[in-house]
Amino acid sequence: MITSKISFGINPQMKKLAEELVPSYIRSLKPYAAGKPIDELAREKGFERITKLASNENPLGPSPFAVREMTNGLWELHRYPDMHGYRLKKALSDLYNLKMENIILGSGSEAILALIAKTFLRPNQEILTSENTFIGFYIVARGVGAKLNMVPLKDYKFDVKKMAESIDDKTKIIYLANPNNPTGTFITKDEFDYLMDHVPDHVLVILDEAYFEFAKNDPTYPDSMTYRYDNVITLRTFSKAYGLAGIRIGYGFGHEDLIGQLTKVKLPFEPNLIAQLGACGALMDSPHLQRTLDNNKKQFARTFNFLKEKGFNPIPSITNFICIKTGSGKASDWLNNGLLNQGVIIRALKSNEMPEYIRVSIGTPSEMDHFFEAMENIIPEYDKKFGLKK
Ligand SMILES: Cc1ncc(COP(=O)(O)O)c(C=O)c1O
Repeated sequence: MITSKISFGINPQMKKLAEELVPSYIRSLKPYAAGKPIDELAREKGFERITKLASNENPLGPSPFAVREMTNGLWELHRYPDMHGYRLKKALSDLYNLKMENIILGSGSEAILALIAKTFLRPNQEILTSENTFIGFYIVARGVGAKLNMVPLKDYKFDVKKMAESIDDKTKIIYLANPNNPTGTFITKDEFDYLMDHVPDHVLVILDEAYFEFAKNDPTYPDSMTYRYDNVITLRTFSKAYGLAGIRIGYGFGHEDLIGQLTKVKLPFEPNLIAQLGACGALMDSPHLQRTLDNNKKQFARTFNFLKEKGFNPIPSITNFICIKTGSGKASDWLNNGLLNQGVIIRALKSNEMPEYIRVSIGTPSEMDHFFEAMENIIPEYDKKFGLKK
């Protein structure tokens, strides 16, 4: 019986070799810091009650329709998935009145971001975006050696005026997350149109609408599928409002010539069979989506009011999460640890270059009760150490 783990041995050459194998822009990458998994905290602390409010997931879980479709699909696992994703593309094309050739599917919208980078970007080509937006995009862009030009946020929003002024001959791609993660803010139709008026036709705009379902009912939100610019690729996901983050599925929509190039580069059998089926099931269950939105609305209001009443600075958000200004990296870490010690996982935003902020996702009523209780337990000491608004 083998008792010890297989060892690759101590080889002083390996570090050097591994570094030499990659270009400098990969050597300097920092890996993505995700929300702490529930199992990890359970292993570390032995807690039974754990509430994860760290990754903007759907607290109600997936739709039963999605689970049924995925379960039925398990008996087809010996077959490769449909590489054209016909059923899902058809469902999306019916729902959003799109042509199927304008849709691309991916293993999460992040995989489509990576595909766009691989297809359209070369080392040293320039991207215009904002500071403090989705870090997954920064990693993808840096991973192909692109240069990121970042405009600071203004009032926690993309500063479309500054962005418009920053477009130059070298700008190849513009990335916008609308709504933005981690601030939860959005740019309006007027702001989006203003920016697009300044974007030359040869510049590609990636419009990441991962939180679209939460924002879509605001009349000033620019749902980019309903009014089109040919140089815009819209990205959406089943990870958030549809509750399928674990199975990895997202989609993009854009001009067929752009989508056609992406389709050539995409790994043919992504997204996997079960993911495609789950997404089809999720689209059949609009009551589940509505329950998700209703829960979010109620629990968002409770959470926002709680934070304000206690003297915190929550940023108004149109999404399923709230970004809170703590004022310092120390205060953010203290809160994060104080909550972790009581089984509540939130996100400190150090890796988003926002150390003086934290982010809390909206959960079920009982998950938010857990958050409120845990906060109540540490607020007096927090107030003494860092001070709250009276
Ligand atoms: C703005 C934004 N875009 C994309 C993603 C990635 O979503 P997916 O799970 O579809 O890869 C996220 C996830 O947090 C996000 O916040």
